[in-house]
Amino acid sequence: MAIFLDTSNITEIRKYNKMGIVFGVTTNPTILHKEGIKGGMGGLKAAIQEVTQLLAPHPVSVEVTTNDPKEMLKQAKEMAGWGDNIVVKITVHGPKGELDNMEIIHELETKHNIRVNVTAMMSAQQCFLAALAGASYVSILSGRVNNMGYNSIEEIKKLRFLLDRYQLKSKIIAASTREILNVTEWLCAGADIVTVAPNFIEGMLVHPYTKETVQMFLNDAAKAGH
Ligand code: E4P
Repeated sequence: MAIFLDTSNITEIRKYNKMGIVFGVTTNPTILHKEGIKGGMGGLKAAIQEVTQLLAPHPVSVEVTTNDPKEMLKQAKEMAGWGDNIVVKITVHGPKGELDNMEIIHELETKHNIRVNVTAMMSAQQCFLAALAGASYVSILSGRVNNMGYNSIEEIKKLRFLLDRYQLKSKIIAASTREILNVTEWLCAGADIVTVAPNFIEGMLVHPYTKETVQMFLNDAAKAGH
């Protein structure tokens, strides 16, 4: 698994998928808004299905757009029907700390066989509870954790320990990448997956000394007439 792309940009997804380094995609309403996806639920469905078809069987996360419990459940079921590889994203609680979300997460995973990615989490303890509720994926927004002055690596390590100790199936997604270094440091800390903004991939791959070395090989091949 290792790397998911945190984008809805189909050109970027296609480009990196061809390289064989993308094992899933995550989106959220902010990403979709920035990408200019319009047209209500129909427009959202069309954009997401383009990604699900391209990436199948790899998972594609799409987030519910309401915090009304009944609507959330209804939307989650509808979105799950958009493709076999859909994972429905739900925030761990509402904007005022409403707790209904956890019940819905549990119901979707245990009664409806719908995979849920629980998101907007900032600590190991939140992710642990979401894992106990049955979430397939727990997303810790590690860059935001660091921005608040906490150490995301310590949270990921604690979470890895707890999931292993209690044999919980949830996969840890470390999200909110801010630096290229985040990708390997979060994976080494115990995340199963880092969801990466596409512009970081080139930064991970291209190295100035590699460029210089490759140029040396090409120059010497030319000199030798090969
Ligand atoms: C991924 O699942 C998150 O929604 C995303 O990484 C958040 O990124 P941001 O903190 O840069 O908004």
